[in-house]
Amino acid sequence: MTDTSSHPLLVMSPSKAHGLLFTKMRDKNTSSVDFVYYAKRAMRLVAEDALAEFPTTISSIETPCGPFEGLESVAPTDLCAVSIVRSGDVLLESVREILPACKVGKILIQRDESHPKKLPKLFYSKFPPGIKDMFVLLCDPMLATGGSAITALDVLVKGNGVDPKKIIFANMICAPQGLRVLAAAYPDVKIVTAVVDKELNDDKFIVPGLGDYGDRFFNTV
Ligand code: PRP
Repeated sequence: MTDTSSHPLLVMSPSKAHGLLFTKMRDKNTSSVDFVYYAKRAMRLVAEDALAEFPTTISSIETPCGPFEGLESVAPTDLCAVSIVRSGDVLLESVREILPACKVGKILIQRDESHPKKLPKLFYSKFPPGIKDMFVLLCDPMLATGGSAITALDVLVKGNGVDPKKIIFANMICAPQGLRVLAAAYPDVKIVTAVVDKELNDDKFIVPGLGDYGDRFFNTV
């Protein structure tokens, strides 16, 4: 049963296409080449939906047939897309296809798979100057225990002064446990995801899930 009540600011990427794309991505018999193909299609949808959650202003334009009151989002130069390396990089690239002028930051965090709690390790971070005043789109396709996302948010908020209200976490697939952890630690950070799965298994993998997103995308299974 999908649990969407675990976070106050959870936004589901509403595309009907996710059902089709995720079936291919979840299938263990889908090759890495095909996984990349379907994941890129799904990530583009999530990236659009996540970017659309930033504040908008009214934009008065002229269509070929007359005036129109439309919407404009934050300027790309006021936005920093931050990936949690390695899997976050692939979602980041979908964002950059949409907004080539956005700033980019990187945080290298890896789950310690030898630790029983799969605790995250922070290795490196790099951000553009002035990030504390920017909107931030944090990119990571998987949210399992929430440890990696919390570590990344600590670096952004506590380490670099970013306002949590200006951060959106773009995600592909998550577990209720990770949502609850984020809700407790960073209730002001909005999450945009495509899928909320049932639970974590004893190895802290999302179930039913799709395996390890990075391994399947980078063919390192
Ligand atoms: C995966 C994933 C998240 C993290 C989620 O990364 O991309 O960063 O695990 O798990 P958590 O919520 O329990 O922290 P991993 O550390 O496997 O590295 P990878 O991106 O290189 O595959």
